[in-house]
Amino acid sequence: MESKNAKIVTCVAPVNIAVIKYWGKLDEELLIPLNDSLSGTLSTDFMRAKTTIMVSPTLQENKFWLNGKEQSFDNKRLDNCLKEIKRRANQELPILNWKLSICSENNFPTAAGLASSAAGYACLVSALAILYDIEGDISSIARRGSGSACRSMYGGWVHWCKGIKEDGLDSIAKQIAPASHWPEMRVLILVVSDGKKKYGSTEGMKRGVETSELITYRAQYVVPKRIEDISEAIKKRDFNTFAQITMQDSNQMHAICLDTYPPCVYMTNVSHAIAGLVHAYNSYKGSNKVAYTFDAGPNACLYLLEPEVEEFVSIVNYVFPPSDPQGYFQGMPLSMKDIPQDIK
Ligand code: DP6
Repeated sequence: MESKNAKIVTCVAPVNIAVIKYWGKLDEELLIPLNDSLSGTLSTDFMRAKTTIMVSPTLQENKFWLNGKEQSFDNKRLDNCLKEIKRRANQELPILNWKLSICSENNFPTAAGLASSAAGYACLVSALAILYDIEGDISSIARRGSGSACRSMYGGWVHWCKGIKEDGLDSIAKQIAPASHWPEMRVLILVVSDGKKKYGSTEGMKRGVETSELITYRAQYVVPKRIEDISEAIKKRDFNTFAQITMQDSNQMHAICLDTYPPCVYMTNVSHAIAGLVHAYNSYKGSNKVAYTFDAGPNACLYLLEPEVEEFVSIVNYVFPPSDPQGYFQGMPLSMKDIPQDIK
């Protein structure tokens, strides 16, 4: 929308949940990853970032609000995104020299390991790209804000290729299949804690690169084949294989976090109990029907197909009663035999 001289743009952007994790950077400044990663982008109906940006010749200084609180504009990642956008813009644009007012909000807990920075930077960069008329791929700009943000620039199933160029311009995200390709796919988020993480992913992966031997092994020998195999499983809609790779990859990321020195412990006893419940459910069903994956926090993201949702949610509610989130301490079932028949 244009009013007088000011220009205002509002965008929303979704969260993405990685099934092959981005963990470790080759370049800390450019946010070039050690390995490729792959994720599913959620619908903006439930978890999303929303950003409104105004540029106007009457603004005296740049301002930035996140969830209603004013933030410092002196932020390297924000600055890198802005610089790259302005570098690609038509240099004749008068608005290039105007000040900005940025107002961003998430409708889910921020910095709790629920990909808030991914949605946030994807949203910010989309809005900036509209304001400054940028064309072409902008996922490499979103990447400069937060690595995983580049994957939120596309819907459906998205592959972030680490690229080979030193300037990171080919470190971009690409959609491998739209959401409509697998319409029965659902994501359940079990919020174990909505508090701020002890240490963020940036810090955790930096320490991992410095101290873990497993991290380089993973990037070199494990991830390339996993990306190939999971892409194939997605193309064939083979949930059993998709789920196995997803869970193994989450476990490997957290194994690296433990191999980091001092270790980064993101999963809690409740997270492990959820993973145990998923394995018990899958073995009771005879094949993988639910897949868990954990980011840099204790909350579980579960991929499952629509026909499974009702039964699995009722089991989760039985094992972890909402009014008693620590309920599993008083009797976490060791196998599906401990779940009453009428729950299933
Ligand atoms: C565990 O994108 O938050 O969610 O690039 O340092 O901002 P920075 O890290 P960030 O890392 C996310 C890591 C992850 C796994 C993933 O989403 O692939």
